[in-house]
Amino acid sequence: MAKDNGTRKPWGGRFEEATDAFVEAFTASVDFDRRLYAHDIAGSIAHARMLARAGVLGEADAEAIVRGLEALRAEIEAGRFTWSVALEDVHMNIEARLTERIGEAGKRLHTGRSRNDQVATDLRLWLREQIDAIDAEIGRLQEGLVALAEREADTVMPGYTHLQVAQPVTFGHHLMAWFEMLRRDRDRLADCRRRVNVMPLGAAALAGTTFPIDRAYTAGLLGFDGVCENSLDAVSDRDFAIEFVSCCALLMVHLSRMAEELVLWASPHIGFVRLPDRFCTGSSIMPQKKNPDVPELVRGKCGRVQGHLVALLTLMKGQPLAYNKDNQEDKEPVFDTVDQVLGSVRAFADLVPALEPDRGRMRAAAREGFATATDLADYLVRKGVPFRDAHEIVGRAVRHAQAEGCDLADLPLETLRGFSEAIDEDVREVLTLDGAVAARDHIGGTAPAQVRAACARARAWLAARRRG
Ligand code: ARG
Repeated sequence: MAKDNGTRKPWGGRFEEATDAFVEAFTASVDFDRRLYAHDIAGSIAHARMLARAGVLGEADAEAIVRGLEALRAEIEAGRFTWSVALEDVHMNIEARLTERIGEAGKRLHTGRSRNDQVATDLRLWLREQIDAIDAEIGRLQEGLVALAEREADTVMPGYTHLQVAQPVTFGHHLMAWFEMLRRDRDRLADCRRRVNVMPLGAAALAGTTFPIDRAYTAGLLGFDGVCENSLDAVSDRDFAIEFVSCCALLMVHLSRMAEELVLWASPHIGFVRLPDRFCTGSSIMPQKKNPDVPELVRGKCGRVQGHLVALLTLMKGQPLAYNKDNQEDKEPVFDTVDQVLGSVRAFADLVPALEPDRGRMRAAAREGFATATDLADYLVRKGVPFRDAHEIVGRAVRHAQAEGCDLADLPLETLRGFSEAIDEDVREVLTLDGAVAARDHIGGTAPAQVRAACARARAWLAARRRG
């Protein structure tokens, strides 16, 4: 029987020599998959209860197993558990220690299952919990955005296309654009959760088991919505994890875009917002520096998560049915994705309520780029001028104002009338920033009234989400 450093392998029966020491370390996953311990124990408890109910396991044995596993959980949480690389992974570590504690009964736990359905179950249970944690944290970020958007519903700032001043918008409207991106991220995660929350247990190694198991019962105990309907697929596919990471990859793309805007806005050239000192760091050489490290890091972590997505897709590609050891490589990318996403969302959820907008700088910037040119063209259209002609007329007026070094609103009425007879005194209102934003008064538009309405709808949505 194969032994390594005195540790008997649970699968050692057919082996004639001990595992090579390097191979043992190379194939082990316990250093990272021990993170699944609580879900591994929960899965084992449910499995033992089901086996007892089905008459496969004696009541006394099942009780000993359940109590033993609960004691083990306490041992792990107290930091008193010794993880052994020789026992390869979290599953065999826990099973071996259980047997050490309760004897014979511990050896009966693995009846009618395999590490293949066990690990897939553990990962799904763990991921389900992480999805809920991420969802809650995005919700907190969204609450902060709505609160700030409501406060800044009247704040005028430049809206950009091509990063050139395009039309005035309200800061509240801009923040609610972020809210919408995050709403879709949460919807995607919720949809992904439906496919995560299906139970592989019962698939055993790949073909099912000869014991009269009751999979629906186990699934009920573990809070799964149903069971995987094909045993080969159940132990093999990690598409649920890939889908989760792809949702996260997109979420991180959104966060990186917000990060980029925060970095730009905090730059002294733009100065639309001030980031509180507690979210920034200084430079070791330049005494004047205050750097927006938090958004920069979030932007950087985005790359890491995209990498995890590609790693998982590539890991799955070309794998024949059913389980292959390749799949052990799924955990680290998934774990790191969760860590980076939770950290990034949390950082933004903390940061957003602390942002200090500079309304004066925003308004001044909006005045700079002829942001109301479209409004003048629309005005001419309302006076009967065809839009293409109006576009041309306003273009000439902009060229003139540019040469004069002033805004359209600063041109005397006589000068404006020189470009089109259709222009009257009532053009003044149209050329103001507040008039321009207030005029975009329909659902989805930037008018302060619409931003307030959007915030109210957002609050109702958030409340409904909290109720579940
Ligand atoms: N540590 C393994 C993993 O993460 C558990 C399943 C191992 N199964 C096996 N037949 N070697 O995938």
